[in-house]
Amino acid sequence: MTSTRLAAFVAQATACCQRHAEPADCVLALAPLMLDLLDHSDTFLAPQHYRSDPLHYARNLVYDAPDHSLSLYTLVWLPGQWTPVHDHGSWGVVGVLEGVLEERSYVRLSADRGADAGIELVRGGVILLGRHAVTSFVPNPDHIHVTGVPVERPRAVSLHLYGRAMTSFNTYDVAAGTRRRVQLPHNES
Ligand SMILES: [Fe+2]
Repeated sequence: MTSTRLAAFVAQATACCQRHAEPADCVLALAPLMLDLLDHSDTFLAPQHYRSDPLHYARNLVYDAPDHSLSLYTLVWLPGQWTPVHDHGSWGVVGVLEGVLEERSYVRLSADRGADAGIELVRGGVILLGRHAVTSFVPNPDHIHVTGVPVERPRAVSLHLYGRAMTSFNTYDVAAGTRRRVQLPHNES
């Protein structure tokens, strides 16, 4: 890590997490810090952080805390690239650096949060996150959504801060009402 701006952000984020045990308090404190970080992305992002992949969206590691309590990535979305329906198992704060990131929400109607089957999801609203927008989410209940860029829009690049190393998350089969854990090594999508 060479950027003093990024180092300051990480120090503030670490202090935030230690101060706030409640994820909602944590993202409340971190959202304005992410907004400020977006303005200084040129001080810590290098060309490799803008790597894209023609096959699927690309996830590029920017920072991983030694104790894996925080991780920061760029996500690069080419036109037509989407996530599966997923949750995060963590709080998260997301800021948009370039383009318009689209988020399509799902709402879980079934009560058992621990179940891997019998999950009833219905489609919720859509949010269009333009450049310099910041959004956040908390776990429990899980924030379930699809994010990406429709084929008719240009590339989007976003910064994602999570409250853990994002090496796995749940994906959902909406029609089957099931979910499964997906392992995700760093720097792969
Ligand atoms: Fe997500």
